Amino acid sequence: MKFSSSVLGVLGASVLLSSVGALELDINSPDSIKKAAKVVAGGLRKWYTGDRPGDVPGNLPDPYYWWECGAMFNAFIDYWYYTGDDQYNDITEQAMIHQAGTSSAFEPKNQTSTLGNDDQAFWGMAAMSAAENKFPDPPEGQASWLTSAQGVFNRQASRWNEPPESCGGGLKWQIFSFNDGYNYKNTISNGCFFNIAARLYKYTGNQTYAEWAARTFDWERSVGLMNKEYHFFDGTDSLKNCSDVNGIQWSYNAGVHMAGAAAMWNRTQSDVWRNHLEGIIKGADVFFFGDAKEIMFEVACERNGMCDVDQRSFKAYLARFMGYTTIVAPWTRDILLPKLQASAKAAAAQCTAGADKSTCGLRWTNNGQNDGSFGVGEQMAAMEVMQNLLTTQVSGPVGEGTGGTSKSDPAAGGDAVPEAIVYSDITSGDKAGAGFLTTVVLIIIMGGAWWMVS
Ligand SMILES: *[C@@H]1O[C@H](CO)[C@@H](O)[C@H](O)[C@H]1NC(C)=O
Ligand SMILES: *[C@@H]1O[C@H](CO)[C@@H](O)[C@H](O)[C@H]1NC(C)=O
Ligand SMILES: *[C@@H]1O[C@H](CO)[C@@H](O)[C@H](O)[C@H]1NC(C)=O
Ligand SMILES: *[C@@H]1O[C@H](CO)[C@@H](O)[C@H](O)[C@H]1NC(C)=O
Repeated sequence: MKFSSSVLGVLGASVLLSSVGALELDINSPDSIKKAAKVVAGGLRKWYTGDRPGDVPGNLPDPYYWWECGAMFNAFIDYWYYTGDDQYNDITEQAMIHQAGTSSAFEPKNQTSTLGNDDQAFWGMAAMSAAENKFPDPPEGQASWLTSAQGVFNRQASRWNEPPESCGGGLKWQIFSFNDGYNYKNTISNGCFFNIAARLYKYTGNQTYAEWAARTFDWERSVGLMNKEYHFFDGTDSLKNCSDVNGIQWSYNAGVHMAGAAAMWNRTQSDVWRNHLEGIIKGADVFFFGDAKEIMFEVACERNGMCDVDQRSFKAYLARFMGYTTIVAPWTRDILLPKLQASAKAAAAQCTAGADKSTCGLRWTNNGQNDGSFGVGEQMAAMEVMQNLLTTQVSGPVGEGTGGTSKSDPAAGGDAVPEAIVYSDITSGDKAGAGFLTTVVLIIIMGGAWWMVS
């Protein structure tokens, strides 16, 4: 997870080849937004090497974990949808098909050491976006995008409260019992499962998905992973029957739940989901800086310089799902759009680094001053916050009966047993990688109380 010099080298070499001016963004002009998003997307694409001969489609170079590559392709799927620019569609399709695998559920054996439920779900959400946006279908004989999302849902539903049962339900962070963190029930794993279930319900109308979405949401509340103010906390220990909660708050948890609640409201139009969605939107104010609560920031780690490689991407998902929410629950637009606009303006103002003078940093709250931090996460977050200003330009996610064409297979992934690499085959490097992540989480658990918001 350390920022390696070889990665710095990749950017150093690539920025030298570009010669664009500083990034301009007029938030009221779709053309200007598209132009800005195009520049930032180009900067993101330069990090990806999986399409090169001998490399593996769907992997980013170190220090990026596999999940973030799925998150990045979700960003590119939305990029195409919002801007119409299809230049990344081929690498996206290649990576998605390669990683979906024969089980159509994104459980590749190669990822044994890093495959948590949350990691898998970031690919599953990408497949869901592809189905909703009518991203060009995979070739005949390959699982449809919808099927791959259903595959992820089915695999995860089968792991709900799996033995040893605890906490009255929930998904564990890890899939394999031998990976560190197996006893942790974290909010992002459950939140992504909720997100996928809710969107599958919106897409198909199948009540089973609605039941799972509600079950997950209610369970998270019952153990305190979210509180009355709809603040979402990091996770809880199943060995203690989820009796204490790590109170650190991340923007992506607010994001995945916001979109799930919006999808549930869209299909049911019930006051229950309207209230939840209103609460989540209000609760997410904690991720907006200053008195005006307009510019997005990663409150737990951004201003103290402690965001790790994963965390530097989290704002991307809050921005993505705020945009989604404004489409499927249009009454949220007046609250959310100004925040996206102010954040996008602030983000663009600091995309001034590198030889191309348009590489984006992490902090958008620095009055246009670039903070010198850069990478996939920083770039993807800036891209998402810009492209999600274009939600008025599209008709919104389709479903069965409303233009959706992705083939449904409610049994997808059902019988697959995730294949693991035998533990002794995992190199010490891989073990160190996964272990390091857990160490960070544990440090945060112990040191995170300062950021407990109740
Ligand atoms: C797994 O790793 C092998 C060896 O690097 C590679 O050829 C294959 O494409 C990988 N599979 C996936 C799904 O990433
Ligand atoms: C464990 O937690 C669940 C959910 O909060 C609760 O229903 C159950 O009674 C608890 N079990 C024990 C032994 O405390
Ligand atoms: C539900 O979402 C669709 C887009 O997926 C949107 O067109 C529709 O207006 C939304 N329904 C309501 C009641 O807002
Ligand atoms: C609804 O989804 C469930 C769970 O995946 C599945 O078992 C069932 O067959 C689906 N029903 C229909 C009508 O597709």
